[in-house]
Amino acid sequence: MLDLSLHILDIIENAVRARARNINIAILKENSNDRLSISIIDDGEGMDKEMLKKSMDPFFTTKDGKKIGLGLSLFAQAAQQAGGNFKIDSEKGRGTFIKAVFKLSHPDIKPMGDILETVASMITAYPAVRFTYDYRDGENNYYFDSHE
Ligand SMILES: Nc1ncnc2c1ncn2[C@@H]1O[C@H](COP(=O)(O)OP(=O)(O)OP(=O)(O)O)[C@@H](O)[C@H]1O
Ligand SMILES: [Mg+2]
Repeated sequence: MLDLSLHILDIIENAVRARARNINIAILKENSNDRLSISIIDDGEGMDKEMLKKSMDPFFTTKDGKKIGLGLSLFAQAAQQAGGNFKIDSEKGRGTFIKAVFKLSHPDIKPMGDILETVASMITAYPAVRFTYDYRDGENNYYFDSHE
């Protein structure tokens, strides 16, 4: 995957598949700390401890007819390759929290791509889901709620 927005798309698709009603996407660009943080939080069905561990395995998926599930592991890899880190937490019946951190100045950081287009396409595809999008970079702050 070329762009971070495509990784984010996969993570949002995971949340939709987990029947989330609310999905929050937050992007924080901190030039002073040389950091880009992307978090995606959903209130879908979540995962228990055992499944959470397996979820990062590229050979684990609950999608029908598939043998590999790459979305999470590739997003984690993109963060690690850009001098950052990746965190996932989940609770069965409550939802899932994902945060990827990137070093802004790292030569291997992927471009963001068209994140607004990505989020807009998900809003159109899943109008029943409430998407909130929060972007901050110090100068430009942008907040959007698809159900307001
Ligand atoms: N937000 C989530 N809520 C509940 N379960 C999740 C969530 N994200 C991932 N999972 C579980 O982890 C598995 C692995 O996710 P991952 O995105 O890595 O692969 P995938 O979605 O199965 O396939 P791919 O992303 O390659 O199309 C999923 O099949 C699903 O069972
Ligand atoms: Mg996926």
